[in-house]
Amino acid sequence: MAPRPIIIDCDPGQDDAVALFLAMASPDELDILGITTVAGNVPLELTQRNARMMCDIAQQQALPVFAGCEKPMVLDAITAEYIHGNTGIDGVDVFEPETPLQEQHAVDYLIETLLAAEEGSVTLVPTGPMTNLGTAIEREPAILNGVREIVSMGGAMREGGNRSPSAEFNILVDPHAADIVYNCGKPVTAMGLDVTHKVLSTRERVARIRDLGNGVAEATADMLSFFHRYDTKKYGSEGAPLHDPCTVAWLLQPGLFETRRCNLSVEKQSELTLGHTAVDFWHVTDRPHNVDWASDIDAAGFYELLIDRLGRYGDS
Ligand code: BDR
Ligand code: CA
Repeated sequence: MAPRPIIIDCDPGQDDAVALFLAMASPDELDILGITTVAGNVPLELTQRNARMMCDIAQQQALPVFAGCEKPMVLDAITAEYIHGNTGIDGVDVFEPETPLQEQHAVDYLIETLLAAEEGSVTLVPTGPMTNLGTAIEREPAILNGVREIVSMGGAMREGGNRSPSAEFNILVDPHAADIVYNCGKPVTAMGLDVTHKVLSTRERVARIRDLGNGVAEATADMLSFFHRYDTKKYGSEGAPLHDPCTVAWLLQPGLFETRRCNLSVEKQSELTLGHTAVDFWHVTDRPHNVDWASDIDAAGFYELLIDRLGRYGDS
């Protein structure tokens, strides 16, 4: 089967970076058309630079990387340096990448690419606030014709929030964009904290990644070692959750996950619960089913997949 065309929309972020590495290691299954970046974990000028750095590290300098929205659709920007460090990818040394930044704005790229795409062909993979996608859909709804499905990281049901008591970071940053994406009418698979908090980058798993001995694996291990610090303290867990790679893992091996088709609605007004994802898991309302909500994951299987794919990189 031909590899599935995807666009990864991200805000690297150590875990976004690992999602990129996992996707770039899987050319038989995934054809990365482009990487679009957005303000999120850190400001846009850093997320776009970080995405290009990851292309350099993976020796994929030909991948087109675009910079998109600098702030959410309605609200003011929120960042997360306290988790990801001032660079967004603390753990690796920052350098000026060779991978160029494309001149076109990410939203224009999304619109142009999706309008030109074969009907229902492109999978969108947002791993940050969904500002670029929400803006593109609002500006040109016809782009949805070119979309096959959307596989997103964001939201929380059983786990509660990680940036406020009610909200997960990506949705809290831009609830208006998330609302547009979840309700766009295309199939949406939503990976929230309920699954991502199960894929912990324990010391043993990070050591296995480092032992692979190639440049990408080493960069991954370095970033995860940094990422580890904040989350192990916050949650008292054995490692940081590897949120964003769950999206790519789902595309590669959906059997690792349990999902349930149901309604997900985003809170956009309440000061107290802004960005909350109300997941109607038990179908207690008659709201339309708009997402496949991921409720469980085989964490050991996820790390086997990740370690296998990172092992495919040559020495660099
Ligand atoms: C999400 O927020 C960011 O900190 C991570 O990159 C991930 O996309 C988890 O809440
Ligand atoms: Ca992210």
